[in-house]
Amino acid sequence: MPLSTRHLLGIKYIEREDIEQIFETADNFKEVINRPIKKVPSLRDITIANLFFENSTRTRLSFELAEKRLSADTINFSAGSSSVKKGETLLDTVNNILAMKVDMVVMRHPMPGAPVFLGKHIQAQIVNAGDGTHEHPTQALLDGFSLREKFGELKGLRVAIVGDILHSRVALSNIFLLNKMGAEVRVCGPPTLIPKYIHSLGVGVSYDLRQTLQWCDAANMLRIQLERQDIKYFPSLREYSLLYQLNMPLLEQLGKPLVIMHPGPINRGVEITSEVADSEQAIILEQVENGVAVRMAVLYLLAGMG
Ligand code: CP
Repeated sequence: MPLSTRHLLGIKYIEREDIEQIFETADNFKEVINRPIKKVPSLRDITIANLFFENSTRTRLSFELAEKRLSADTINFSAGSSSVKKGETLLDTVNNILAMKVDMVVMRHPMPGAPVFLGKHIQAQIVNAGDGTHEHPTQALLDGFSLREKFGELKGLRVAIVGDILHSRVALSNIFLLNKMGAEVRVCGPPTLIPKYIHSLGVGVSYDLRQTLQWCDAANMLRIQLERQDIKYFPSLREYSLLYQLNMPLLEQLGKPLVIMHPGPINRGVEITSEVADSEQAIILEQVENGVAVRMAVLYLLAGMG
């Protein structure tokens, strides 16, 4: 079955059936990457450009590895060391790269909507690897895949997303995905970090971390994105931690199993303590492992739509 879209611009723009198909394909690729020979020839002769206009560790390396496991040819671009610094526009940069006969573009950009804009101007297929505060679709897919692996299915699951919801593309993409898959979502954080339009997204809201954790089966703990905050949204990180940090005493008081997730990068000692992040209940490194299989699935399925 083909996907309903040529590009992966956001979870908002894909169907529940697309998500199911990506998960089922990722199941197969997860099996492949755990074999002694981890490489398959699926994307031989396909060239993929990884264009990163914003910093990344996990997403960039995970896409690169997924592409190599699929035998694609890859080129990598980082804005910091490019002619963007000399004033070249996004469209000129991308058109110059496409002139080198590139089939697919994986792009991270600080401006919300940059991949959508690009999709209107170029022929190559685009995968959004995170656009500002808008969407991070492959993160939501790997989060959903990891939850499905842990619980069997997403339908009926209660998932809390905690922290800086206002600036988080991970939160928005997760909300779209979990809603489409029939899970219940509650966001939790300081009132200033919860967007005013949040109810229109069909999620619950709480300002109380303990109550939220008592309610949910899994908690996705988000980082405070100080780099996107031009004003102060709370008095201090210390006060934030007092109210919204997931630490071992709180976890023990809950007296129930809780699956703990984090998209990374972690600010240890702020939203989560090291003890909790490194505990048996945290699936943070499983999320990273699953990211490769999920990105292989996305690239493989989109290549078939080229
Ligand atoms: N989760 C995530 O997007 O991490 P990076 O910013 O390191 O890619």
